[in-house]
Amino acid sequence: MTQHQRLLIIDFGSQVTQLIARRLRELNVYCEIHPYQNVTDAFLKEFDPQAIIFSGGPDSVTRPGSPRPPAAAFDMGVPILGICYGQQVMMQELGGVVESGHGTAEFGRAFVTPTDERLSLLDGWFVNVDSREQVWMSHGDHVSKIAPGFQVFGTSPGAPFAITADPARRFYAVQFHPEVHHTPNGAKLYENFVREAGFTGDWTMASYRDEAIRKIREQVGDKKVICGLSGGVDSSVAAVLIHEAIGDNLTCVFVDHGLLRQNEADEVVTMFRDHYNIPLIHADEADLFIGALEGVSDPEVKRKTIGKLFIDVFQREAAKIEGAEFLAQGTLYPDVIESVSFSGGPSVTIKSHHNVGGLPEKMGLKLVEPLRELFKDEVRALGRELGLPDKFIGRHPFPGPGLAIRCPGEITREKLDILRKADAVYIDQIRKHGLYDEIWQAFVAILPVKTVGVMGDGRTYDYACALRAVTSVDGMTADYYPFSHDFLGETATRIINEVKGINRVTYDITSKPPGTIEWE
Ligand code: XMP
Repeated sequence: MTQHQRLLIIDFGSQVTQLIARRLRELNVYCEIHPYQNVTDAFLKEFDPQAIIFSGGPDSVTRPGSPRPPAAAFDMGVPILGICYGQQVMMQELGGVVESGHGTAEFGRAFVTPTDERLSLLDGWFVNVDSREQVWMSHGDHVSKIAPGFQVFGTSPGAPFAITADPARRFYAVQFHPEVHHTPNGAKLYENFVREAGFTGDWTMASYRDEAIRKIREQVGDKKVICGLSGGVDSSVAAVLIHEAIGDNLTCVFVDHGLLRQNEADEVVTMFRDHYNIPLIHADEADLFIGALEGVSDPEVKRKTIGKLFIDVFQREAAKIEGAEFLAQGTLYPDVIESVSFSGGPSVTIKSHHNVGGLPEKMGLKLVEPLRELFKDEVRALGRELGLPDKFIGRHPFPGPGLAIRCPGEITREKLDILRKADAVYIDQIRKHGLYDEIWQAFVAILPVKTVGVMGDGRTYDYACALRAVTSVDGMTADYYPFSHDFLGETATRIINEVKGINRVTYDITSKPPGTIEWE
């Protein structure tokens, strides 16, 4: 258990519960999300939160058997904030009344007007009594009678009890979602809430780094650890952190499948072996992978071929490290948050996609996962804390199967060379125009088609390529980036002039859905 001040988020299944955690972490408050089914009295006692938040959820508190928080939560003497379903369940548990329907459902934007400003939760929120604040609502049920001890502090047309509180007990209940973007001042409510609860903002990356190093030492002792290094941010940060903790008892294995971008393999080796002095096995297996992919054009067969070979090579190299007992993985917090299941019983669906092919079990290794408590942007902050260069930390995501899925159709060395060069020019253009950080991901795909062109006085018959650049927050949905025509024209000219083998450049303007970000 972390030694920081802790806030507990009891999850009732809202789609946006993770955003609550994000807002709190931004305030340097350590919090954990736990599904309501798992939050027993014993759990509460052990977790010992300094404040509790009840999330929203899809159920109706008017339905018998709908989710409840443990009664002990109300007796701990700590502040509680109920949001949407969390507000309704708090009211009902404390003696108020919640009703369904009656035409008071609200979905989307709404405005809350204050009825009383003298509530610490609302400090700096409403400008004055006549002002109103935009909030985001999403509720069918509504509170029709507040619980004894509560007063109303804000109303909206569909929610007469939009903000209520029992200031003496420090129980706060809001019908809207302060964690979402469409409640523009929502972060202020969280800031006021955690201040009220006495949080000092002790969750910083500097303190996390020291704590994580101590924990790694405790877990691993003087045993050896293997870390699979992909060159991506997560595995790199994990490797540098573990190396700080246990020094050369860490060995990194970098399986180089020959499908990386220009100079990427060299950069990984230089940074880890030469700059950080981390023992590194560089398994240069381009021939093996590209050989196995000969004649393969089906995207799924490509992915499976690469995945299987990757595991084989990793196992072979790892077996050379004598006495290794642990495998390090860059698992992040979003991968381990258990989701609320309404189909019965506590959900145990913990995603394990970092756990490639069950490797740890197969190899009889125990796991070290020093990033399990962190969100992606916290991993970046930790990377900066560990001295990894900004340019490296801010890099766009890159898929495991690498350039293979940016080369539709059959892969050849010639095509990979052309693709690497075109991609380097494109990214250089994006950086030069100061657009890199605005874009989630940008890359070139080389198309399996040759087209006719004319250069100088001669005919050319070369490959066409597609530029891709998307904006996204999580890679699940995406939109194409609206480059200016000037930028596109200049980039096309540079690619055709500088990259032998390409004579036509197109720009992919498909969003996701219906497209995907990668071409395969
Ligand atoms: P798609 O193409 O599905 O990609 O829209 C969504 C995001 O996931 C990345 N991606 C992968 N990452 N292994 C990975 O580690 C993979 O097999 C893989 N396939 C896609 C993709 O680059 C984008 O960021």
